[in-house]
Amino acid sequence: MLCPLSPVTHLGRSLNTRILSQRTSLSTSNCFRRISSNSPAPVGVERALQASKNPSNESTLFTREFSLADRVALISGARRGIGLEAAFTLAEAGARAVYCVDLAQDPGEEWTKVREFATRMGLGSVHYVQGDVRDQAQMWKVGETVGDREGRLDVCVAAAGILGGNIPSLEYTGQTFQDVVDVNLKGVLFTAQAAGRQMVRLEQGGSIIMIASICGSVAVEPTIFDVAYHAMKSGVLQLARSMACELGPKGIRVNTVSPGFVRTR
Ligand SMILES: NC(=O)c1ccc[n+]([C@@H]2O[C@H](COP(=O)([O-])OP(=O)(O)OC[C@H]3O[C@@H](n4cnc5c(N)ncnc54)[C@H](O)[C@@H]3O)[C@@H](O)[C@H]2O)c1
Repeated sequence: MLCPLSPVTHLGRSLNTRILSQRTSLSTSNCFRRISSNSPAPVGVERALQASKNPSNESTLFTREFSLADRVALISGARRGIGLEAAFTLAEAGARAVYCVDLAQDPGEEWTKVREFATRMGLGSVHYVQGDVRDQAQMWKVGETVGDREGRLDVCVAAAGILGGNIPSLEYTGQTFQDVVDVNLKGVLFTAQAAGRQMVRLEQGGSIIMIASICGSVAVEPTIFDVAYHAMKSGVLQLARSMACELGPKGIRVNTVSPGFVRTR
């Protein structure tokens, strides 16, 4: 007989439904065994429909799936701007430790005030690490040190980036182009590698987020003249797609965020 399948809420289940509905000779018990071994736990409305009468002890979506409790993050370009905002947001969301990598030796007043505020709020620890995203060996070492110290590395935000300058494309020099490549493309790769290598080593998966830009997808008017910046942000989008396909099976998500214009200090 046909299995009494509940409404489909998951792609895997949808597939099961199709496969099982074609096998009209399956017994009910066989069918349930097959479903329970293949199906993930129910979520959303399906979870509510299957819940016990007293669900008061159940976790919510935000305490379970979106919680960053005990998570550890590594963020490049996090001395200020979008990187520092991301660092504080991850701490607010419950991360146990957030490591901010940036060029300067001294974290500076703004970063220090943010850290002090996070401490007063009783949030997780926020650390500053001097590092240059252009230096692959150094970035890998930073990742390794965090992995060894924390026993995990769950989140990476590659935010460090520079502008080449407001230079007409016909005047753009090879050296300026190379400088932008080094930070905005190679630096993003090296940052993602630093974290990704630990995510694989520690076998806990993770999430890598690369900060691209609206300028990587469209040519906006009015804009600054910066062909290298625009081209490298486009490169970040494809870098992420490529790494996402490769690392997805290892439990590592790779995504990009493309901000519009954001006023930072
Ligand atoms: N602000 C915007 O309007 C905007 C829009 C779209 C995308 N973005 C992107 O968001 C990211 C952050 O931008 P932002 O506005 O916060 O910039 P920002 O200049 O305020 O901060 C960038 C940080 O990166 C650091 N950095 C630069 N080179 C580095 C290197 N080699 N190694 C380590 N750190 C380095 C800087 O010291 C700085 O602290 C950049 O990738 C930028 O391209 C910004």
